[in-house]
Amino acid sequence: PFVPLRRITPSELATHGPRKNETKTYWTVLEGKVYDMTPYLPYHPGGEKELLRVAGKDGTKLFNLTHPWVNWDNMLRGCEVGILVSENEMPK
Ligand code: HEM
Repeated sequence: PFVPLRRITPSELATHGPRKNETKTYWTVLEGKVYDMTPYLPYHPGGEKELLRVAGKDGTKLFNLTHPWVNWDNMLRGCEVGILVSENEMPK
């Protein structure tokens, strides 16, 4: 059956950032897709700290500045949470 992707706003994304995060899960966005990076944190060759710099926000720019050759789409398969939408695309 057709399963629609979950739609995530910037404000929900921000609750999965480095600080004041009750969820204890860390999300980022790459090319419009929202990923839960939590399971990957201990495995990142660049360390957890670098990953947390993009937690709760769009990581596309920093990712592509650092290592544009890394295939994030393959690496983070299974960690996808949904797609980023703007605040006013969501029903109140
Ligand atoms: C290295 C994955 C986000 C900083 C790497 C490598 C992979 C990887 C596979 C090894 C690349 C290679 O040796 O060719 C990822 C994934 C990310 C992510 C899947 C997103 C979820 C970031 C971000 C930063 C960062 C946001 C922030 C600056 C680094 C650094 C290295 C590295 C500095 C080099 C480590 C070293 O060789 O000493 N990352 N990365 N990464 N990453 Fe990331």
